[in-house]
Amino acid sequence: MNGKERAAAAALQYVRDGMVVGAGSGSTAQVFLEMLAGRIREEGMEVSIVPTSSEVEVNAVRLGIGGLVRQLWQVDRIDVAIDGADAIDARRNLIKGGGGALTREKIVDYWASSFIVIADEGKVVANIPGGRPIPIEVLPFAWRAVKEAVERRLGGEARLRIGSDKRGPVVTDNGNYVLDYVHPLEEIDVGAERELKSIPGVVEVGIFNGSKVSKAIIGTETGVSIME
Ligand code: A5P
Repeated sequence: MNGKERAAAAALQYVRDGMVVGAGSGSTAQVFLEMLAGRIREEGMEVSIVPTSSEVEVNAVRLGIGGLVRQLWQVDRIDVAIDGADAIDARRNLIKGGGGALTREKIVDYWASSFIVIADEGKVVANIPGGRPIPIEVLPFAWRAVKEAVERRLGGEARLRIGSDKRGPVVTDNGNYVLDYVHPLEEIDVGAERELKSIPGVVEVGIFNGSKVSKAIIGTETGVSIME
């Protein structure tokens, strides 16, 4: 097993029969979903799954557990959300949104009774953002205005995320664009989440406050370490 698989496997023990599970996006969360699907198949475990992106929803169907998918408005709670991260620091502050799913992830993860982050050790940084760009979801109408405002207020550079086919901006599940903001310093105050969100046109910011994270499971080549 690699670090992602070890973290995902360790997270499985927090899922019990009857739970409503928030399913995060990205490759680590995908490993978790595959393992969860295995348990559902083999043990007949009964859970509901709330996806954080259309990609997760499609993956659930592919794994044969599409019938367990519920939209957020169909559930009265989320017992546990299991999600990946692009970077995590010692206070469990996160950078998320590498896959563009940050807004739905933040809604599901913050609402969950328990929010568990799974990541391999390559994601651990001394302080966020730790050299990673900070994804910011913006209304398409406002992308240029937000870019200018972010750069003027905090410095650095906010780049419009372009699709890998180079044909235009990446469009999120919510019909918005993403700015990848490269902050000039290695360390950013987690309060920047609020400052960035106050700019008109910003939908969500990929800074997740560590106080919302119940537990982070970091997978290594030999085991896991828990940050709580
Ligand atoms: C999706 O938008 C992100 O928040 C992911 O959770 C994050 O990018 C981690 O993805 P990986 O597990 O693929 O590194």
